[in-house]
Amino acid sequence: MTVCEYRAGLEGIPATQSSISFVDGQRGVLEYRGISIEELAERSSFIETAYLLIWGELPNKDELELFEYEIRNHRRLKYRIRDMMKCFPEGGHPMDALQACAAALGLFYSRRALDDPAYIRAACVRLLAKIPTMVAAFQLMRKGNDPVQPRDDLGYSANFLYMLNEREPDPLAAHVFDVCLTLHAEHTINASTFSALVTASTLTDPYAVVASAVGTLAGPLHGGANEEVIFMLEEIESVENVAPYIDHCIEHKQKIMGFGHRVYKVKDPRATILQHLAEKLFEKYGGDTFYDIALEMERVVHDRLGHKGIYPNVDFYSGLVYRKLGIPTDLFTPVFAISRTAGWLAHWKEQLNENRIFRPTQIYTGTHSSPYVPIQER
Ligand code: SDX
Repeated sequence: MTVCEYRAGLEGIPATQSSISFVDGQRGVLEYRGISIEELAERSSFIETAYLLIWGELPNKDELELFEYEIRNHRRLKYRIRDMMKCFPEGGHPMDALQACAAALGLFYSRRALDDPAYIRAACVRLLAKIPTMVAAFQLMRKGNDPVQPRDDLGYSANFLYMLNEREPDPLAAHVFDVCLTLHAEHTINASTFSALVTASTLTDPYAVVASAVGTLAGPLHGGANEEVIFMLEEIESVENVAPYIDHCIEHKQKIMGFGHRVYKVKDPRATILQHLAEKLFEKYGGDTFYDIALEMERVVHDRLGHKGIYPNVDFYSGLVYRKLGIPTDLFTPVFAISRTAGWLAHWKEQLNENRIFRPTQIYTGTHSSPYVPIQER
C-alpha cells in the first residue's frame, strides 16, 4: 500500500484512533473523555482524573476510594531501587534518573500478562504510586539525605510535596499542585504519548512504555520547555529587556520557550488556568518578579507573532506555580511526568485493546548500487 505525501513531524497525519482526550486548537478547547479541562480543574482531583482517563468513566465513591487505597499502598520503593539511585551522579538530570528508575521497575515486575485486567490495573497503580516517590527520593538523595517515606494519612499531591520538602504542605499548596497534575495528565497524541504507543505496540511491558515516554518528554521542545522558560526569564532579567529579547529571537529564528503549539493556535486553555493558579499563590505567599516579565512577554509575543497563532502553551506559566511551591527548576519536567503517566497508561491500555505494531514507511533519499570502496582506497 502506498500512501500520500511525506509531512515533517507527521503534521496533520492521524497516527491512531482514541477516545481519551480531544483538543480543538482553534477554539482552545481540551476535554478528557468529553469533560472540559476547566470543569475537571475546578471539580475533580488528579487521582479521580487518572481513573477517568484510564478506565473511561468517572469512578463512583467506592471505586475512587479503592483506587486511592491501592495507590497509597504502593507508594514505597524497593530498597534496591533506592540503592540504584544512590549510584546516580548528583549532577545528573532528574529526568534521566526517572527514566532509569521507571525502566528498572520492569526488573521487579517482569510478568507480562497483557491480556489480564488484574495485571493492567496493578501496573497502572504501581506506576502512578511510585513515580512521585522516585522523583522526591532523587531530590533528597542528591543532597546527601535519606529519602522521606510516604505518609499514608496524606493525599497524593500533599504526600508528594511532603516527601519533597520534608514538611507537610498547607492545603492551598496541595490543592494547587493537584490541579497542576490534573491539567498535565493527558493531551492527545503528543510526542511522548506517541513514543509510549509505539513502544506499547511491540507488546513490551508497561515500565518500558513509561520509560520511553519519560525520555521523550524530557526534550526542550516538549515537556522540558517548562524549565527552559525559567532560564529564559532569568536571562531576560527585567520588563524593559522583554521586547529586545523577543525581537532578537525572531530575527535569529530562535524559539521562544513556552510559546507556540502544533495544535493550539490560540492561548492554551491550560496556560490560562495555570496563570490563575499562579495569581492565587502570589496573593497568599507574595508575588514573583518573574510574573511581570512573563506578562510583558505574553503581550509582546502577541504583538509580534499573534498573527502566526503563537501564544503561551502549558509550559509557560507552570514554572511560576512550581517555583512558589518550592519545587526546584530541574524537577518541573519530572513533575510533568508524574502527571502525564496517567495519560500514557490510558493510551497503553487503549492500544492493547486493538493492537497492531507501529511500522510506518519512509521515503528513501539515499543512493543505490554504490560500490564498496576498500579502506586503503578511501
Ligand atoms: C508541550 O503536542 C502536545 O500536545 C505537547 C504538550 C502536551 O501537553 O503534551 O502540549 C506539551 O510540549 C508544549 C510545547 C512546549 N515547547 C515549547 O514551548 C518550545 C517552544 N515552542 C516551539 O518550539 C514550537 O511551537 C513547538 C515545538 C511547540 C511546535 O512546533 P511545530 O508545530 O513543529 O512548529 P514549528 O516549529 O514548525 O513552527 C511553525 C512556525 C515557524 O515559523 P515559520 O518558519 O513558519 O515562519 O511558528 C514559529 C516557527 O518559527 N514558531 C515560533 C515558536 N513556535 C513556533 N517562533 C518563535 N517562538 C516559538 N516558540
